[in-house]
Amino acid sequence: FENEQTAFTHRREGTLDEFHDRYESAVERVRDDLGESHPLVIDGAAVERDERFSVESPGETDLLVGEFASGDEGDVDRAVAAATDAFDEWRHTHWRDRAAIFREAAERARDRRYELAAVLTLEAGKNRFEAVADVDEGIDFLRFYARELERNEGYRLDTGEPTPGQRCRNVLEPYGVFGVVGPFNFPFAIFVGMTTGALITGNTVVAKPASATPLIAHEAVSILSDAGVPDGALNLVTGGGRTVGEPLVGHEDVSGVAFTGSRAVGREIERSFVEREKPGPVIAELGGKNPVTVTAEADLEKAVEGVRYGAFGFGGQKCSATSRVYVHEDVADAFTERLVETTEEIPDRAPDDPGAVVAPLVDDDAVERYREVCETAREVGRVLTGGEVVGAVDGAAGRYVRPTVAVDVPHDHDVAREEHFVPFVTIHPVGGLDEGIRKSNDSEYGLCAGLFSEDDAEIETWLDRIESGMCYVNRSQSATTGALVQAQPFGGWKASGTTSKFAGGYWYLPQFMREQTRTVVG
Ligand code: SER
Repeated sequence: FENEQTAFTHRREGTLDEFHDRYESAVERVRDDLGESHPLVIDGAAVERDERFSVESPGETDLLVGEFASGDEGDVDRAVAAATDAFDEWRHTHWRDRAAIFREAAERARDRRYELAAVLTLEAGKNRFEAVADVDEGIDFLRFYARELERNEGYRLDTGEPTPGQRCRNVLEPYGVFGVVGPFNFPFAIFVGMTTGALITGNTVVAKPASATPLIAHEAVSILSDAGVPDGALNLVTGGGRTVGEPLVGHEDVSGVAFTGSRAVGREIERSFVEREKPGPVIAELGGKNPVTVTAEADLEKAVEGVRYGAFGFGGQKCSATSRVYVHEDVADAFTERLVETTEEIPDRAPDDPGAVVAPLVDDDAVERYREVCETAREVGRVLTGGEVVGAVDGAAGRYVRPTVAVDVPHDHDVAREEHFVPFVTIHPVGGLDEGIRKSNDSEYGLCAGLFSEDDAEIETWLDRIESGMCYVNRSQSATTGALVQAQPFGGWKASGTTSKFAGGYWYLPQFMREQTRTVVG
């Protein structure tokens, strides 16, 4: 399996200059088309609504990305009914034909890579490298899940003839209609990944994208439809969490949910499913409070580079973002000084600028959260750099904030325990590896963790004892972020997810199906 999603994929297609040219002309084209009105998609038809919500570009809040139909409970009912009607034919579509549709969708997404990346820049505030990586990860999910369905021959096994004439088969069958609720931070990759997981296994889908990123969801749905997903098998209902999300995940004809988002909402969905007459799977990727341990044996330059990118890439708006660092006291000053220095060098740039690192925040609530966490950090500790809302870059108003490094925040304070989803990291000196591991594990979350050490024994000990789904050693490019489909299946332990089967991994698809054992005598 060859990943599209590598940091410099574009080099395979041409020079770096060509990459920049393609991306920049796509941004111009997409920018010209923004501001339109977008319907719901139910049973293959565009459904207009008088009530709409608007989305502004995070890096340029005067720029209207589009207006989107606000769905309601009635729309959810209609979409679920369409998905229910489409289920029988779709589940009987041969698994080979289903896989072929998703392979075709991967090619269509690849052909439109730069345009999709431009949408991600303008709608979500991703810089060009992160935006292309998001598109490429989506392509990888499409191809990998198609390959897995084929490799497992549709998940149908002959299990033998235990007594003469008794023929047994064990198969995985789809559940029915899945509700897919997507996040704003990987609004192509994760939206496509969850939707593909549900559909390719024979379920039908009603999808609700994050309210901040409905445009890229429209693009994803049209790619899937054009590739051959039939009308009604995939429906898109845009709107709010209360007006669309809740009725969708609580709908009695919805058999399962795939969700990526906050821990609070994920838990609520899980609880409501447990209480139902017909419990079904809730496949949720939730938050993280991802620790990095830096030992006295670390290469400090690698550690600084990794933490800088892990904490501040896409403005810390990743569940995988590095948010607390346990650094050996002997090297803590040197590490912190260097991290502060290099953080201060990060320029304020619009997301489509080639030098952009820290993204503008997704909405005003995020800016408020940033203000609050920085203010509290100042009260209970010290903010060494950052803590400022920048507000405008190159004359355009946007939700820009400075990447922030704080020290002296008690390890057990909420500032160091809660996920904030902003570019903010706390540094904590520790006496050694043991304390680093103990404090890393002292969290309700267990998504991603990193270690910087050049010592093999330390690496072994850390890998053996760290309580985390994703464990990264000496990852100087991105510390705890940037998992690759197939090579690095992505998921969390503890409160970071509701299942222990990872996205982009070998055990992901079976979760969307239920097992059936078939015995025929004679
Ligand atoms: N898969 C992303 C990462 O690894 C997070 O969702 O950063």
